[in-house]
This record gives sequence, C-alpha cells and structure tokens, in this order.
Amino acid sequence: MKKILNKGLTNLLSLSLIGIICQSSIPNKPLTTTDEKVEALLAKMTLAEKIGQLNMYNGTWEFTGPVPNDKNSKQKLDDIKAGKVGGMLNVLTAEGTREAQKLAVENSRLKIPLIFGYDVIHGYKTMMPVPLAQAASWDINIARLGAEVAARESAAAGLHWTFAPMIDVSRDARWGRIMEGAGEDPYLTSQIGKAWIEGFQGKDLSSEKTIAACAKHFAGYGFAEAGRDYNTVDVSENTLMNVILPPFKVAAEAGVATFMNSFNDLNGVPATGNELLQRQLLKGDWGFKGAVVSDWGSIGEMITHGFALDSLAAAQYAIKAGSDMDMESNIYVNYLEKLVKSGKVSEKLIDDAARRILKLKFDLGLFDDPYRYSNVEREKKELLSAENLKAARQVAQGTMVLLKNENNLLPIQKSVKKIALIGELAAHKDVPLGNWRAQANPNSAVSLKEGIEAALAPDQKLTYAEGYKLTEGKRTFINELTFTNPNDKSGFAEAVKIATTADLVIMAIGEDCYQTGEGRSQANVELKGNQLELFNQISKVNKNVVIVLMTGRPVAIPTVAEKAPAILQAWFGGSEAGHATADVLFGKYNPSGKLPVSFPRNTGQLPLYYNQKNTGRPKTNDFDTGLVFWSHYTDMPNTPQWCFGFGLSYTTFEYKNLNVQTAPKKATVTVEVTNTGKYKGKETVQLYIRDLDATIVQPIKRLVAFQQINLEVGQTQKVQFELTEAELGFYHADRKFYAESGLFEVMVGTNSEQVVKKSVDIQF
Ligand code: BGC
Repeated sequence: MKKILNKGLTNLLSLSLIGIICQSSIPNKPLTTTDEKVEALLAKMTLAEKIGQLNMYNGTWEFTGPVPNDKNSKQKLDDIKAGKVGGMLNVLTAEGTREAQKLAVENSRLKIPLIFGYDVIHGYKTMMPVPLAQAASWDINIARLGAEVAARESAAAGLHWTFAPMIDVSRDARWGRIMEGAGEDPYLTSQIGKAWIEGFQGKDLSSEKTIAACAKHFAGYGFAEAGRDYNTVDVSENTLMNVILPPFKVAAEAGVATFMNSFNDLNGVPATGNELLQRQLLKGDWGFKGAVVSDWGSIGEMITHGFALDSLAAAQYAIKAGSDMDMESNIYVNYLEKLVKSGKVSEKLIDDAARRILKLKFDLGLFDDPYRYSNVEREKKELLSAENLKAARQVAQGTMVLLKNENNLLPIQKSVKKIALIGELAAHKDVPLGNWRAQANPNSAVSLKEGIEAALAPDQKLTYAEGYKLTEGKRTFINELTFTNPNDKSGFAEAVKIATTADLVIMAIGEDCYQTGEGRSQANVELKGNQLELFNQISKVNKNVVIVLMTGRPVAIPTVAEKAPAILQAWFGGSEAGHATADVLFGKYNPSGKLPVSFPRNTGQLPLYYNQKNTGRPKTNDFDTGLVFWSHYTDMPNTPQWCFGFGLSYTTFEYKNLNVQTAPKKATVTVEVTNTGKYKGKETVQLYIRDLDATIVQPIKRLVAFQQINLEVGQTQKVQFELTEAELGFYHADRKFYAESGLFEVMVGTNSEQVVKKSVDIQF
C-alpha cells in the first residue's frame, strides 16, 4: 500500500467534480453557502456513499493498536474507488497523499475528496518541544507558534487534519500520555489548548498553511485509574464538569474543527458510545457543529469493554452516541447500512454525521481542489526551513523551567573555564525529539553537547563522558523499551574522573523519550537505571553540579533535588533542544517557564495536584503537634517537590500591595510586581481564588487567570485582573454554572504556593 500510495505524481482534478457539487436543484441558481453545497451533495448520495464518508482507514505503515478485521491493502484501495472511504490516516507526503486522493476523485461516483489526518502532535519534520513542555511556557504566543509551524509543514506535505491538541487534564505522572497535554490544571489547559487550536487552524481553514485541529480525547482519558493507559475512568460529576470538561468546552468555543473520543469507559460507559458526552453535552448544550472521530478502533473496543455484544451493536451505540467517523474499526462500513435498513438506526443520524464531515472538507477547500495541500515544491521549501528551526529554538527557550539555582550557579559565568558534561542523554540526538514525533528524522535534534559546544567562549573547555546508559535495543514508537542493566557501571570511572577536575559539571539525567507517550505508563516515576548512583558519585567529587533534566513527565528525584545546587527542567525540547538549553545555561535567555504540573517527591503521592480540597483535617497549627490524626503520610510530606506554577528566573520578583476592589458580581484585583534582581526577566503573574463556603466544597486554590510581564531591573509594574462570575463560579449538580455569594480568598503569586492574599465578600 505504501508503495502504491507513494508511486508518483498524477493528474489534476477533473473538472466534473466542481460540476457535480455546485449544481443547485433549482436551475440557474448557484449554491452560495457551504451549508447549501453540503445539502445539495447529500441529496445526491446513496446511503452507502454517506456511510463511506464515515469510514476512515489507516494508510499503512504506522499504527497505534491492533488492526481489527484488517482488510488487505487491495480491498482498501477498492473501497476508496467505490466511494466507501471518507478519510485516511497515516498517508504521508505531498506525493503519497496526491496518489491516494487520485483514487478517490478519479474513480468514485461522486468524486468526493478524501481527508488526510495524522498525529502532528508537536511538529511534523521540525520538532517543537513536547506539548507538556510547551505548556510550561504559560505563553500563548509560544504555544501558538509551535502549532503554526507544525501546521505549515504538514499542510505542505499533503495533510489536512491533525489529531491534536490533546487537552486531557491529568494529575498522574504515571500516565505516559501526560507528556502530550498541558498538565494538571483546567484553566491553563484551556488557554494553551486554545492557542494550539489557533496555531493549527489559523483564521481560515481553507488557507494552504493551516490544518484542521482535533480536541482529544473526549473525555476523561487523563484520569485513567492508577495512571495505567486505557484503564477505566471513574470520576464524580463535579470532577467531570469542573476539571475534565472545561478545556473541551473552550476548544469548542474556539472553533476547533473536530473532536476525538477516547478509549476509556467513563463511569461505566465507553466514551465512544457515550451519549451524555457527545450527543447531549458537545453537540447539544455546547452546539458543536464539527465532526467527532473515534479513537483508533475504539468502536470495536466497545465489545471488549463488555458494553456491546458484537460489531452490529457497537456500530449502533457509537452512531447514536454521536461518533461520526470510524477510525480503523471497519465497523461502520460493514454494519451501518444493515442497521438503517432494519430500522434500528435512523438515516437522519447518518446524514448528520456525513454532513459534518462534508462540511469540513468544504471548509478545507478540498472541493475547490482536492490536491491543493499536496504540493511537492512547497513541501521541499517548508520542511525544516531556517524559519521553522528558528521558531523551534524560540519555543524551546520559553519552555525551560529553572527548578533550583543555589548561589546563582547559573547562568554559567565567563570565569568557569573547565566544564565536564556527563550523561548519555547529554549527547543524545534522538531523545530530545520526543515521542509522537511525526516525521522527524531520527537522531536529528541538536544535542545538549552540541548546544553547549556552540555556546562556549573560546577559553572555555568542555570534556564529555557518557557515564550511564539508559536503554538498549530497538527504540521505536511501537516497541516496549528495554532498560540497560543497572549493574553495568563501566562508564562511571571516566565520568567521575572528568568531574573531579572540572570547575563545573553539567549532568543530564531523565528519561528516554520512549518512556513517555501512549502505552508508556510507569508504576514508578523515579529515575531508571543507575543514573542516581552516578549522580551520587559525581556530587561527592564536585559540588558545582548543574542537572539538566530531560523528561516528558514529572519525575520524582528527591535526592537530586536536595543535593544538586542547580536544576533545569529541559523536557524533550525538539529539534533545537540543545541550542535552547545552552541559551538558558549560558544566560542568553533568562528562564521563564513554570511547571504546568506538580513534581512529586515519590510515586506514592500520585495523583498529586495543587487544586486539591482542604479536607476536614488539613495540616494546621492545631494538628502540628506530633499527633497523627490529620490527613497526611507518615513517611513523607504531603507537598510536592516542586509545585504547580513553580519556576525560577535568574532575577527575582517581589509582589506587594495586593488590592481587591469589590462591587456586586465582580472584583478588580491589582498587585505590584517588582524586578528586584540583576537581570531583566519575564514573570508569569498567577491569580488563584478559593470560594470559602460553597455548596460543593471548592479547592483550596484554583487558577483563574495569569498574565506575563517583562520587567527591566528595578522596574515595577501594576498588574490588574477582573474577577467575574466566569472566574468565581463553578458547575453545580444540575450542570448549571453560576457563582455563589460569600467569602472568597483572592491570591496572587509567582507560583501556586507563594502567594499574597486577601479575603473579600462578593455578592451575586
Ligand atoms: C491515539 C490517538 C491517535 C490515534 C491515531 C490512538 O492510539 O489514542 O490519540 O490520534 O491513535 O494515531
């Protein structure tokens, strides 16, 4: 199939396509609106052709799960020609997509173009930092830019649609896919998610530089029990409405073109067959007009869940619930017609689903020219262009989070002459590309070592030792990872030797990028292999150890957190990771990232999140008397290692003069922020609230707004926020959103723990 789809260039659109679509039923009256065009086309379609639009096949060579009832490639090609396929995923390149498109528009009766989707999660060829890292920028422009570049590259390579952004809130670092989202907070996830959607889609879906986005996974996937991927999700109505769903509602309001449902069951009902989620909330209450695609094979998986007895039942439940397109279950194409004919499914439901998919194809301009995205020339120019790589560096700079910096060890001063660089990850050119890396060239990232080498002053000298080895064998998207034997310490001696004589040691530790992502949950989020042991030996011979942490999830590193004087969270930083990290280490960029997710001290603390409830027995002075009867662990603090919103700068910021002016139904909050340090810097001013006496107990803190400001040394800026019902309210048991009158705590600060606060009465 791959061979066939990539075979070569082909003809242009046959003119008859435009003729078929644009004929009105009233002679001489041209169709003007997209809706009219969609209706005119629908009226011409047979039931089988409409069902064909709801069918999405995998192209060939990449897959993310078992392939149920896999048809051979020949059958798929015949189905395309027969108009039984609406879209494909994993068909790639300008040439390959053109070839596949040709099959549809030159052979099928109505010549309806295919839509090509792909997981462009954080870049297509030019890799941006992984999504969780982008969220750490708390910067709308940075997140938007990351998605914009990804869209430009994929649109030039023939793609129309990305299965991103993932906006699943997650509080559990064990879950491998925490890397793919924007972290633990609904508000931050909403804002970053919206920026990603704007970046992918731009202002005009029909532009050749944009692609349709897909808000996923609807819903609850990030709450997989025990952090184990695909596991069951059992959450309260309160958590669903106030934590899980808000980013999806914002995505719908932002005009995201599509949604994807999810693998998990939500309170006993698989999301794919969940009417409450798709029909009632999304398409009903929120008025979403776009299409919902199933997750890979998730219609078929409803049988495995124990929800549907067979494929016929699965098709029925999914279409009724509002799943419009079947990704690789091959169930709609085989069973929907029978269901309609037997009266079990109304044809209106098929029309509704087909209408949504056709509308998207019109919006993308595919009926004007089905090959418009498949442009070999543009593809050549766009992929890995200098402009895109520059953007990747800029985005990566903004994602770095400085976690510790004792005695201002960073930025590295000119007086530091001998630098020892240690760790397999430090020279790795593949790990920084991250998982879900689309078409990134393997081993193409700028490594930390290369980044540092390029940043050194002429009289600064770098020595490198690998020290430890993390994984062995095949590192791929689909294979289980093999870790190196921790007893292999053959690289230790060399590393300790170079550390002993260095002025400064930079040690890279963390994860392989294939430790995070789909199917990569971990029961333990501590460092794998013998990294920690080597760190302990290094820190004995040199006190100036800077840790560069490369991970896609929060990891628990209590010993490193205590002993290392400086720690920089560099994530998986994409194609330009090494340069961006060196920019921060050497002070070319003053770090401004803030954690979008709490970093635990220990896996046993998970799920861990800042917006928890107080309980009836929190740690208060009364309980702090050595007695046990309060909500805590006896073997470790409740608090995270680093809290949500945490991130240092090379400068310091002071918050003072918090003022909260109330009026009925609102309040105006002002605070003065001063740069009290020695560098100019960017600060993210975070606003949290707490409703102190609500009918449903509210979290001790809830992020409701943030602003980024750039301050020169000594400069003070007054920052102002408005609080209204939108910020102070929450969803109640009747699914109605409103605020309750009474006492609120208003908190502003540099992270979720260090805040200045005031209590005020606000009446609604
Ligand atoms: C993932 C989706 C992805 C799809 C297609 C699934 O396994 O859950 O997020 O979009 O595969 O690749």
